[in-house]
Amino acid sequence: MKILITGATGFVGNALVRQLVDKGHGVRAMVGRSNSSRATALARMERVERVESTFDRPDRLREAMRETEAVIHLIGIIAPTRSRTYSQAHVQTTRLLLEAARQEGVRRFVHMSALGTRPEAISRYHQTKWEAEELVRRSGLDYTIFRPSIIYGPGDQFVNTLAKLIQRFPWVPVLGSGRGRMQPLGVDEVAFCFERCLEEVRSHGMTFDLGGPEALSLRQVFETIEDVLGRPRRQFRIPAGLLWPLALGCEWIMGGLLNYPPPLTRDQLAMLEESNTGDIQPAREILGLEPRSFRAGISRYLRP
Ligand SMILES: NC(=O)c1ccc[n+]([C@@H]2O[C@H](COP(=O)([O-])OP(=O)(O)OC[C@H]3O[C@@H](n4cnc5c(N)ncnc54)[C@H](OP(=O)(O)O)[C@@H]3O)[C@@H](O)[C@H]2O)c1
Repeated sequence: MKILITGATGFVGNALVRQLVDKGHGVRAMVGRSNSSRATALARMERVERVESTFDRPDRLREAMRETEAVIHLIGIIAPTRSRTYSQAHVQTTRLLLEAARQEGVRRFVHMSALGTRPEAISRYHQTKWEAEELVRRSGLDYTIFRPSIIYGPGDQFVNTLAKLIQRFPWVPVLGSGRGRMQPLGVDEVAFCFERCLEEVRSHGMTFDLGGPEALSLRQVFETIEDVLGRPRRQFRIPAGLLWPLALGCEWIMGGLLNYPPPLTRDQLAMLEESNTGDIQPAREILGLEPRSFRAGISRYLRP
């Protein structure tokens, strides 16, 4: 099958392109402004054609879809900037892609959302993910929506950042109350589910929660990484309230003035306080997801 993938230069995108190519699919990877090593890696891969990201040109978007049988839409941001807002990255790109898919007669649309997405969500991240989901559900296309919990793997921004803190400092900070739970799962497991759904008609019209087998608090996540690295650390809590002014400053100065994704946002602090868990039984039954434990997953790429 020939598939157009947006967000192909991202962490998930790169893993998914590899998975699809391994399974014999042809990939048209939409590449934005990134000059990252992942963009370079895509250029070297066989059966991968690169097309420029063209959301300001609907005609070029339709062209990018020509002769494809499915669209996988991965674009998303976790920290907005002046030029990349949540609304533009999540809602606007989805609207334009759905329109182009309808016009080009591409019926299969696989959409990346996130756990925690709901109409009354606290964070702008989840609110805009919900708006995008609603567009997909109303599109009339054969859609599948995925809502993963936090995703880890080589090159991720999550486990690798925590691992660096553990390796460098004797004390590690648990932001917020540390009570919110998450169900981390491997990026290869996410890629597996996306690839499987292309072959599985029962996934049409479905919204799948994706996650690992355990619901872990941030403290437990830290402890598991410390164990795997063989470096027990003392944890200290920083209440979210204390971090709010810092997050606000980061958003204004980095996101607003410098137009660079801020390292911390108020949205992220709010999301940390919420549990990020879901029901993975439908993904087990329909797609064959068999997630490994967090410890087993990170042991594959973290070294003591
Ligand atoms: N990572 C997680 O733990 C996690 C969990 C749940 C859901 N998700 C969702 O999974 C998706 C992929 O996440 P990821 O971790 O792979 O993110 P990532 O590494 O930051 O990649 C994001 C991709 O989206 C592209 N992009 C962002 N804004 C864009 C815009 N306005 N126009 C065009 N392209 C744009 C980026 O292109 P450039 O290369 O040009 O920047 C990049 O290819 C996102 O939708 C995210 O919300 C991720």
